[in-house]
Amino acid sequence: MANENQKRIALVTGANQGVGLQVAKELVANGITVLVGSRNLERGEAAAKEIGAGTTALQIDVTDSGSIAAAAEYIRKEFGHLDLLVNNAAISNTRKDKLSLEEYHKISRAGNVSLDEVRAIWETNVFGVLAVYQAMLPLLRGSSDARIVNVSSGVGSLALNADPAGPYHKSFGPGYSASKTALNAMTLAMMVELEGTGIKVNLVSPGFTKTNLNGYEGTQSVEDGSREVVRVALLGPDGPTGTFTRWENATIPW
Ligand SMILES: NC(=O)c1ccc[n+]([C@@H]2O[C@H](COP(=O)([O-])OP(=O)(O)OC[C@H]3O[C@@H](n4cnc5c(N)ncnc54)[C@H](OP(=O)(O)O)[C@@H]3O)[C@@H](O)[C@H]2O)c1
Repeated sequence: MANENQKRIALVTGANQGVGLQVAKELVANGITVLVGSRNLERGEAAAKEIGAGTTALQIDVTDSGSIAAAAEYIRKEFGHLDLLVNNAAISNTRKDKLSLEEYHKISRAGNVSLDEVRAIWETNVFGVLAVYQAMLPLLRGSSDARIVNVSSGVGSLALNADPAGPYHKSFGPGYSASKTALNAMTLAMMVELEGTGIKVNLVSPGFTKTNLNGYEGTQSVEDGSREVVRVALLGPDGPTGTFTRWENATIPW
């Protein structure tokens, strides 16, 4: 596996902590050269140092078109192409105070959520992913075996959440949950555009993982939360496109 993937070049956005950092670690362990995307270069450099050889920190703020263009230009100059793009960066809210998930849900319903809050979340989780996709697509087209893995969540599944008995039904709101629904829609648009090309697109959910995103209320480790992302990221040229899965290859309804 290591030799096979030796020269693959991957960009993981938001790789300075949480699931992204763990995914970067495991891709490097599988012989892939990983660009550790981080909106703050120093945090990216610290993460790259922690991972060790086979990584380079790359400043990329997915809400900043200048930083995305500079990152794409860096990859073009250094490598000429990109094999794997993991769109992992996301936020769950913009609050500086420490509200529990339950408290936050109460003030984030359709009737009372701040529109500025919703816009900020969508800017990162939806438009950020689309912007990175557009900038990296020419580089992905330069790969003979390109794959895009968009990190979404079951909380964005309309099919699951429309069911009153669904696991996240009660907390479905316009902010984070609906941003993941919109990300799923963006991913479908990417899949449709790339049909008939060699570029594969997959949607993955880590599951409820103990990270900064949820104030460390998640119930599983980052190692467990990263497993499906890594499994899908390592699929070869004959691996499937158009899937939405959680560990281990369990389909999530869109
Ligand atoms: N944790 C869960 O339970 C769970 C469940 C389902 C899906 N997910 C998804 O898994 C992915 C990773 O989340 P996580 O749980 O690992 O959260 P996390 O630990 O909070 O990591 C999120 C990462 O995204 C980065 N980020 C945020 N805004 C950014 C921007 N504008 N530009 C670039 N990077 C930005 C963060 O950077 P900073 O360090 O600078 O803030 C951080 O590196 C997300 O897509 C999330 O929606 C998580």
